[in-house]
Amino acid sequence: MIPTLVACACLLPTLVAAQYQIVKSYEGSTFFDEWTFYDNFDNLTNGDVNYLSAKDAQTQNLAFINDAGRAVMKVDNSSTLKFPSKRNSIRIATQAQFTIGSLWVADMTHVPFGCSVWPAWWSSSPTWPDGGEIDTFEGVNQVTMNQMGLHSAPGCTHSNTSVQSSTLINSTDCSILANANEGCTVTNPTTKSYGAGFANAGGGVWVTEFAVKGISIWFFTRSSIPDSLQSNASTIDTSTLGIPVANWPADGCSPPDFFEPQYLIFDITLCGDYAGNSNSFYQTCTGVCYQDWVLGTPSNYDNAYFEVNYVRVYGEPGELTVISSDASPSHTADAVRVLSILAGLMTLLVMLVC
Ligand SMILES: *[C@@H]1O[C@H](CO)[C@@H](O)[C@H](O)[C@H]1NC(C)=O
Ligand SMILES: *[C@@H]1O[C@H](CO)[C@@H](O)[C@H](O)[C@H]1NC(C)=O
Ligand SMILES: *[C@@H]1O[C@H](CO)[C@@H](O)[C@H](O)[C@H]1NC(C)=O
Ligand SMILES: *[C@@H]1O[C@H](CO)[C@@H](O)[C@H](O)[C@H]1NC(C)=O
Ligand SMILES: *[C@@H]1O[C@H](CO)[C@@H](O)[C@H](O)[C@H]1NC(C)=O
Repeated sequence: MIPTLVACACLLPTLVAAQYQIVKSYEGSTFFDEWTFYDNFDNLTNGDVNYLSAKDAQTQNLAFINDAGRAVMKVDNSSTLKFPSKRNSIRIATQAQFTIGSLWVADMTHVPFGCSVWPAWWSSSPTWPDGGEIDTFEGVNQVTMNQMGLHSAPGCTHSNTSVQSSTLINSTDCSILANANEGCTVTNPTTKSYGAGFANAGGGVWVTEFAVKGISIWFFTRSSIPDSLQSNASTIDTSTLGIPVANWPADGCSPPDFFEPQYLIFDITLCGDYAGNSNSFYQTCTGVCYQDWVLGTPSNYDNAYFEVNYVRVYGEPGELTVISSDASPSHTADAVRVLSILAGLMTLLVMLVC
């Protein structure tokens, strides 16, 4: 281990390696066991979908484990809809939340794409935007490259791109109040990171590191997955992963100041604030997003699915990085609220005493 770290430290003087240990895995027949299905129409991004409950998703075959043992999450591609119906889809979030000092790995063979389609593999704090959001994978319509980004309260910026391989920087202010909440986004330069290009390459693996020293994302196309991610390793040393494709170092955005424990989310919506906004839509598609695509032939959605080998989450050894499913997001938020009320009372008491 030591020689590797030294060799790496010489090659990449600015990259601080860290070792992580497995804390949770979502895969195989139990993949869907510890997620919450949103079970409501998309009232978050104004997309034209109904996100199903776990039960409906199962009976309608929109969330299932396929013959290859992979988890599939898809948009309904068999129903013909009439105005003003929305199309059925999936949005799931892990019941557990993961603290700073976590790293998550997702191996997929297919991601959703096509006109009107807006998928994401991302994380969020229940106290959005104060607790931050990390987008590992996102795209809309027929774009050909994956977009990564952070969204946060004002003050967090992508200040320094010295430790990332992508030179495609779209925006550097992570504040939800800047640039119509575009976030601080980076585009992955390879067309193997999205759409048909991703599927034709056999998919790939994303690694997201949520650390005190900053947030990093690595992407590996199927044929270049490093040895350290090939087997089901119980530990991951980030020095084996090379330079991340995107990195937001702490000097512009210190994670402890802008990020709280995150739950991990897969979702696929249609049209809505991003895919359906005319700037984005007409860059790669024609027609009218809802009328022509959502209400159009159901085969518009034959490619609107995630196919996932696994999601594995790692944590810093010796740290409590998993907030278990028993503490539901609202309870956690309540606890935070109670703590801050207590802190306020203490301050008041101190002021009175003095
Ligand atoms: C950019 O970040 C790296 C790694 O944290 C650091 O070594 C370097 O000094 C930073 N550069 C600037 C201009 O802040
Ligand atoms: C979305 O709908 C659900 C269920 O009715 C509700 O609990 C939630 O507050 C709504 N969210 C927003 C942002 O409107
Ligand atoms: C981000 O920048 C890249 C490279 O300039 C460009 O191809 C892509 O369309 C941009 N993405 C967005 C959402 O503007
Ligand atoms: C990978 O390891 C995890 C626990 O570390 C285990 O739950 C999972 O079943 C393993 N997967 C495979 C494919 O062996
Ligand atoms: C729907 O899409 C799947 C691939 O995701 C495909 O196998 C199927 O034939 C499509 N059509 C219908 C009617 O289900």
